[in-house]
Parts: sequence; structure tokens; C-alpha cells
Amino acid sequence: MTKLWGGRFQKATDHLVDDFHSSISFDQRLYRYDIRGSMAHARMLAKQGIIAPEEAQAIIKGLEEILADIEAGRVEFSVAAEDIHMNIEQLLIERIGPVGKKLHTARSRNDQVALDVRMYLKDEIDAIIALLRQLQETLLDLAEKHLDTVMPGYTHLQRAQPVTLAHHLLAYVQMFGRDVERLQDCRRRTDVLPLGAGALAGTTFPIDPAYVAEQLGFAAVAENSLDAVSDRDFAVEFTAAAALIMVHLSRFCEEIILWSSAEFAFVELDDAYSTGSSMMPQKKNPDVAELTRGKAGRVFGDLMTLLTMLKGLPLAYNKDMQEDKEALFDAVDTVKKCLRVFTPMVASLKVRPENMAGAARGGFTNATDLADYLVKKGVPFREAHEQAGKLVYYCLSRGKSLEELSLEEFRHLAPRVEEDVYRAIDIRQCVAARRVLGGPAPEAVRQAILRARAGLEN
Ligand code: ARG
Repeated sequence: MTKLWGGRFQKATDHLVDDFHSSISFDQRLYRYDIRGSMAHARMLAKQGIIAPEEAQAIIKGLEEILADIEAGRVEFSVAAEDIHMNIEQLLIERIGPVGKKLHTARSRNDQVALDVRMYLKDEIDAIIALLRQLQETLLDLAEKHLDTVMPGYTHLQRAQPVTLAHHLLAYVQMFGRDVERLQDCRRRTDVLPLGAGALAGTTFPIDPAYVAEQLGFAAVAENSLDAVSDRDFAVEFTAAAALIMVHLSRFCEEIILWSSAEFAFVELDDAYSTGSSMMPQKKNPDVAELTRGKAGRVFGDLMTLLTMLKGLPLAYNKDMQEDKEALFDAVDTVKKCLRVFTPMVASLKVRPENMAGAARGGFTNATDLADYLVKKGVPFREAHEQAGKLVYYCLSRGKSLEELSLEEFRHLAPRVEEDVYRAIDIRQCVAARRVLGGPAPEAVRQAILRARAGLEN
């Protein structure tokens, strides 16, 4: 096959090289963006008098047909044509004849590929933001049902202080909210039109990039032609944001895995979101959560691939940059796949409030409240901490909880204790008393849910 760039070559490309440098196997997913970008480019060329209006019409019609054929599965891409850009251009020339050869006027694949990837990523960012919003809504719906579901809060995975499931879930609503913000922020820098930069140094033709930007829905036009074709910061930023989404998902997954174990028994996974063992008949495994946790590594790897690929690259375009696509696509695919299955898995979780409350009551999660109670009775905090600690030790040696101690037992180690101590260290009361902004008290969480719901509109 003759190459679109074959003029200065005397020999055919070695087939190993064709195979080596071809990106069609993975960049074909950009076909829609490539065609839309080419249509806008052709319209601009005609508007500027660079090609004739009938020529632009013929090109656009040809591209429309190619688009329909690709969507219908009637196109077989060629490895020898290297990438999606030259495959489509070649198909166009085959289809509409010599006028098709005018499409690439005032354009290079270098600005073309940057354009296609940016268009693709803007759409994918929107799709991922929508998935994150769905997840946040699911968490808020679940939280609303569990404002009073007391559970232990942990530090060092040791029971620390009582919180509620709603409060715990809202922590994740915050994390995913920051993920949305990061994506929105990165989208602004993705939303810049690189077309017009040519290979690296712009063009001598009187092009109108602003008109192309308007047709394709770009908010801005690149300021520097060298930067326009060299910049993949937006891909790195996106993948970094994706890596953090995976960090958040994997932390949540780890908790779901723990919580669904017989040792915790805080939740039960729906049958539809768990799997069995080929050998052990009793098993019900949290595979979805484990696999999501495991897939985090892929996305971190994608981020490393992009950073390493760009590091030390001289301006402007270098073929190394073709390696951006598989990493970027993998990050997009992985995050979407995980979010799509994670959200319904969470929505279908069966919560065991009695086990959560039982765990909160054991493990002295009210010891801080006892110390705080003593402080309110005039004991300096360090002393109060000491007295409460001694009481915990006393309980441990007798297999009791704090609330099971008699007033005499309390007073033996903490003389300021009065009858009202029992109310102060009641687990529900411990939660209800934490009314501070961002705290676990049901009233505080109810307000937090309202604020979070209002934030989802943005
Ligand atoms: N397939 C290439 C890529 O993905 C397109 C740009 C190629 N440009 C070039 N001058 N070889 O980066």
C-alpha cells in the first residue's frame, strides 16, 4: 500500500515496522472525534477561501458516509495506514477521489491527534463525573436511612469513638466530591483547541481556529503552536485524578471486604454482587470489592506511564507520545468499569445495624466521653484521661463495660463521678452530643446531607 507520506521514500516500510508503529488497533476508538474534527476543519477551510465550498461539501459528505459505515461495522481498518487519522483520510480519498486530498491542508497529524484526544477526554470526563454523582447520590440515600445506625469509628483499625454509618458514608461523599472538582478543573485545561498549530509551527494559510473552536465546542484556542502539539498535561492531570478516584474506591472496598467478613458482620453483600468458590460450598466472596481494590494498581501504572513518557521529551511532537493513548484509555475504562459496578453493589448492601451497635458498645468507645464528662465536672483533662484509663483497665480485669460499673466503682478511681455519668457515656448520647459541624450527631449529619445534596447540583 502506498503511504500518504510516501513521496520521499524509495522503499516500502518493513512489515515489522508497520506493525510496530501502527496505533490503529487502539486509536480507532477516536474515529468519531477524528471525523467531527475533520468536518469542522473542512468547513473552516471553505469559509476562509482555502478550498472551494463544493469541495468542503464533498469532503463532509464523504466523512458522513465513512462515519455511518464505521458505526455499522462495515469498515476494516488497515495497519499499514498506521493510525485512525490516516485510515480515515485514505478511506475518504478512495471514496470521493482527488478532492479528498485537500482535507489535510493547513493541518498535521500532530495537531489533529491532540484535538481528537482532547475531544474524547472531555466526553469521558463528563461521563465519569456523572458516574461519581450517581455514586454520591446512592451514598446520600443510604446515609439518610442510617442517621441513627451507631457504629464504631476506628483509628489504627482499633475501635475509637462511636459514629454512625451515615457519618461514615458522608466521608466518602466528600472524597468523591473532591474527585468531581478535580475532574472539572482538569476539564477546563482539556477544553483548549490545538488545531491550527500544524506540525509545530502553525501554518501559512489564513486559518480561523476560533471558528473551529466554536463548531467543536472548545472554550479556548491554544496560545502557542509548539505547546499545542507537545502538551499532554491534561492527560496526566486526568490520570492523576483517576488514580485518586481509585484510591478512594479501594479504601471503601477494603472496608466493605472487612465489614462483610464473619468477624465484623456489619454488612451482607447482595448475591448479585458477590461470588462463590469452586471448592468451598459455603463461600460468598466480595470479589467486586477486591477486584476494584486490585484495579487501582493499573491506574497508578497508567499515570506512571504518562509521566515517564513525557519526561525529558524535547519539543515538539515525538512519536513517544503515541504511547499516551493506551494508558489514558485504560485509566478511563478502568475507572468507568469500577464505578459502574461499585455503585449498585453499595446500593444493594444489607446493613446489620445491631452488629454495628454491638461493636460500638464493646471496646470502650465511650472512654473519651467519660474523660470529657470528668472535665465538665472540673477535673483537668490530663487527670480525667488518667482516671478514665484506670477505669478501663479496671473493667478489662473484670470483663465489664464502663456502663456496667456501679457508682461506687466509678468513684473509687474517679471521685467526681455522679449519677448523671450513665447518661453521659450512653453510646447514643455520645454520638448525639457530637453536634459540631461535620460531626456524627444525627442532626449534624442531616444538615450535612442537605448541604451535600445542594452541592450535587453544581
Ligand atoms: N498516531 C500518532 C499518535 O498517536 C499520530 C501523530 C503522528 N504524527 C507523526 N508525525 N508521526 O501520536
